Amino acid sequence: MGRGYLTWLSQVPRPLENARCKAVSRMMRGDFSWEFHLSCRIRAALILAAALAATVATALGACTAETRDGPVKPQPAPATESGAPASGPVGSNPDAASLYTKYCALCHAADATGYAADNAPSLVSETFVATASDTFLHEGISRGRPGTAMAGYAKFTGGPLEPGEISALIAYLRALKPTPRLDLPKRLDTGDVRRGQAVYHRDCASCHGTQAQRGNAVHLVNPVFLQDADAPFLHYAIVHGRPGTPMVAFGSTLTGQAIDDVVAYLKSLSLTGTLQPPMSPNTTPVVVPAWTPLPTNPQGTSAKFTLRAERFAPMPQVKSALDGNKRLILLDARAPSDFVSLHIEGAVSLPYYDLKLIDKLEPFKRDGTWIIAYCGCPHHASGVVVDELRKRGFKNSAVLDEGLFAWQRAGYPTVGQPGMKGIAAPPP
Ligand code: HEC
Ligand code: HEC
Repeated sequence: MGRGYLTWLSQVPRPLENARCKAVSRMMRGDFSWEFHLSCRIRAALILAAALAATVATALGACTAETRDGPVKPQPAPATESGAPASGPVGSNPDAASLYTKYCALCHAADATGYAADNAPSLVSETFVATASDTFLHEGISRGRPGTAMAGYAKFTGGPLEPGEISALIAYLRALKPTPRLDLPKRLDTGDVRRGQAVYHRDCASCHGTQAQRGNAVHLVNPVFLQDADAPFLHYAIVHGRPGTPMVAFGSTLTGQAIDDVVAYLKSLSLTGTLQPPMSPNTTPVVVPAWTPLPTNPQGTSAKFTLRAERFAPMPQVKSALDGNKRLILLDARAPSDFVSLHIEGAVSLPYYDLKLIDKLEPFKRDGTWIIAYCGCPHHASGVVVDELRKRGFKNSAVLDEGLFAWQRAGYPTVGQPGMKGIAAPPP
């Protein structure tokens, strides 16, 4: 066990150590709630102790079985940083393939070329695979991109995945598009932030959005993205684009100086980001309330909705049902990490990949209670939940039309962590 920890630690890229250590999610399966707590130092001390004494290590093994940090069972080989594509044919790791299908294909498409939902980018475009480090991918998948449809998938954010499973997913993605890794040279910091800002607003913001407003492409001013994307990575993407996607190569239309300027501008924003990732070090412990599938107002009369296309409940109708104290159940179909960051007041978490939780809704099948599911993507994850509800005979079920970000944009009530509300979704 001690050796396992050491091996695992040695594979942890340095910048990850902090984030990995700082928080632990303890998921109490019985009542479906989490607590986030524990400091890095304590863990580090525990790990050292484990390395020193085999007997202690055994005890620790038992204790860490409920934490996000330690490999409690043999982990698949992590992806390499060496530049060699992961070994084995595509899908050779059946675990990773099914993880991908269960958690990711919904938005990034079965073949990972993206755009199945809400402009989720390609994860296999050549210039991306060649330049995205394992750390970049690990962090992106672990912590997600707050304020977008990309949830945090690591256990410590409230997501479903162990670190080893995330590494296996990375190896799986690399095997889908075996591409030699480029060792990008360091870049001198010669850009001018002010000029870069002008270039950005002229040539980039229409797709990539601003600090206050997402666009339809990857949100470049996102704090997690900017923490993880270094200047050489940004520079390469801008010069060479992302072939096969709307991201053209700017190498021939912008001067080298203009590209350095825009990179400098983007990097400067990483210091001014107002969004705090929910899992940043030293945040107050977050507790997801126990899963009680109670209608918003158990004593109220049932709501009535006129569905669009027999499937979508219009936002204003849902809002007035809530205002009128009607009895309905709101389901947040995203990963719980997203639920913690921001959700509609009164909603409960039922992730698109955990449909067995629908069992808990049985008492409301025939009593006229409406069940409205929503997500941020804006209909895909909620669509999965509603399809399953209807398959099981919940006739009064529907998808919230336009989804959470439109709800938020309309100024309707949401609850979330301070700082998480400041970002508007792309305009419809
Ligand atoms: C609900 C839709 C959705 C699901 C499910 C989803 N993603 Fe994403 N993902 C997105 C979106 C949207 C973005 C871009 C976010 C932004 O605007 O920055 C993204 C971004 C990413 C990125 C960063 C890509 C880049 O170019 O910087 C990675 C890596 C990624 N996702 C991997 C995954 C993996 C692996 C899974 C499954 C565990 C997954 N995603 C599940 C929607 C999703
Ligand atoms: C027509 C829309 C559009 C414009 C204009 C545009 N981009 Fe992009 N950009 C995209 C899309 C879409 C992606 C994601 C492509 C994918 O699926 O991998 C992207 C990806 C990127 C990435 C890589 C992000 C990542 O995580 O992989 C960077 C960096 C980037 N763009 C910078 C810029 C800059 C700087 C400009 C302005 C000079 C710009 N883009 C202009 C659409 C655009």
